[in-house]
Amino acid sequence: MTPPLILGLESSCDDTAAAVLRGRDVLSSVVLGQTQLHADFGGVVPEIAARAHAERLDGAIVQAVKESGTSLQEIDAIAVTAGPGLIGGVLSGVMMAKGLAAGLNKPMIGVNHLAGHALTPRLTDGLAYPYLMLLVSGGHCQFLIVRGVDDFTRLGGTIDDAPGEAFDKTARLLGLPQPGGPSVEAAAKKGDEKRFRFPRPLLDRPGCDLSFSGLKTALLRQRDQIIADQGGLTEQDRNDLCAGFQAAVRDVLVEKTRRAITAYLDEHPSDPALAVAGGVAANMALRAGLETVCATSNIRFTAPPLALCTDNAAMIAYAGSELLALGKTSDMTLSARPRWPLDQNAKPLIGSGKKGAKA
Ligand code: KG4
Ligand code: ZN
Repeated sequence: MTPPLILGLESSCDDTAAAVLRGRDVLSSVVLGQTQLHADFGGVVPEIAARAHAERLDGAIVQAVKESGTSLQEIDAIAVTAGPGLIGGVLSGVMMAKGLAAGLNKPMIGVNHLAGHALTPRLTDGLAYPYLMLLVSGGHCQFLIVRGVDDFTRLGGTIDDAPGEAFDKTARLLGLPQPGGPSVEAAAKKGDEKRFRFPRPLLDRPGCDLSFSGLKTALLRQRDQIIADQGGLTEQDRNDLCAGFQAAVRDVLVEKTRRAITAYLDEHPSDPALAVAGGVAANMALRAGLETVCATSNIRFTAPPLALCTDNAAMIAYAGSELLALGKTSDMTLSARPRWPLDQNAKPLIGSGKKGAKA
C-alpha cells in the first residue's frame, strides 16, 4: 500500500517551514529562515517571529507542494508543530493547519516539535526503537530513550543554558559572527585547548544532567583578565579561548553520554544506537568524541544530515505519519502549547527552557 502523503508545518521559533513527505521519502522541504529579521536584536523577538510566520507560511506551503510534484488535493493529512515553542509562532502554524484540514476535509495531527527532532533518525536511517537520542540545539539539551512516537524517557538534560546558546554567547563575548557555533568551532581549530582552564560543570555529580552557564562566566573572566593584562585580545587569544571552551563542552557532553549509554544498555536493545540531532550536532569535535564513546561501548552512532538536524518541517511530517498510523489524530480543539515536555513523568529541570527560545 502506498504510504499517505503528509504535509508538515513548522513555525515554533524562527524558521517558517513546510514539507511534503511520503513514507520515508522527503519529496520537498522548504525552510524560510528569519535570521536577518532578528539580527539587530541579539536574539529572536517573539512578536517579529510570529508576524513573519503568519506572513510566510502560505508561501512556504505553496512552494513545498510545488517542489514535491504533488497537489494540495492529494495531501492525505496535515501534521503541524503544536508546541513547545514561541506561542505566537506555534499558533500561526496551528491555525493554518486547522484551516487546511477543514478546507481539504483531511485529518490533522498535532506534533511535539521535540518528538520531530527525536524521530528524525527513523526517517533518515530507519532506526528501530528503542534508541538513545542526544538532542543538542540552541534551546535544548537532553538525553532521551526513544521507545515510540509518544513514549520517551528523559535521562537528563541541561539545568540552565543549552550548548548552542553557550556557543552563541561565547561568540558574542569574543566579537565573532553569529551563529556562534560555526565561528567558535573555526577559531577553536587554530587554538590551544590547554592554555586556559575551563570548568567541567556537574561532572562531579552522578546522573546525566548538564550545565553550561558557568562556562560562559569562566570565558568572560578569562577574557577580561587578558584585556586587563595586555590591553586587548589577539587573534591567538581568541582562538585559544574558543578551543578551551569547546573542549569543556565536548568533555562534559561526552562523559554524560557515556553515562546515558550505560543506563540505556540496561534495557538490552537488540541493535543499540545513539543518534544526535540539533544544530550543535554539526560540531566535529563533539562528533568525534561521541563516535569514540560509541565505539568503546559497541553501539552504533548516527547523525542525520544537517538540514534534517536543524529545524525543518520534514521531521514534523514524519512524526505525524507515525502518529497517523496509530490513529492519533487531533481535532479542532488542538491548542498551541508553549511548554510540552516529551517525558511527562520526568521532574522539571530547574531553569531549563527559560532562556532559550529555540527548541
Ligand atoms: O537546531 P538549531 O538550528 O536551532 C535550534 O536551536 O532549534 O541549532 C542552532 C544552534 C545555534 O546555537 C548554533 O550556534 C549551533 O546550533 N551550532 C553549532 C554549530 N553549528 C550550529 N554549535 C557548535 N558547533 C557548530 N559547528
Ligand atoms: Zn528545534
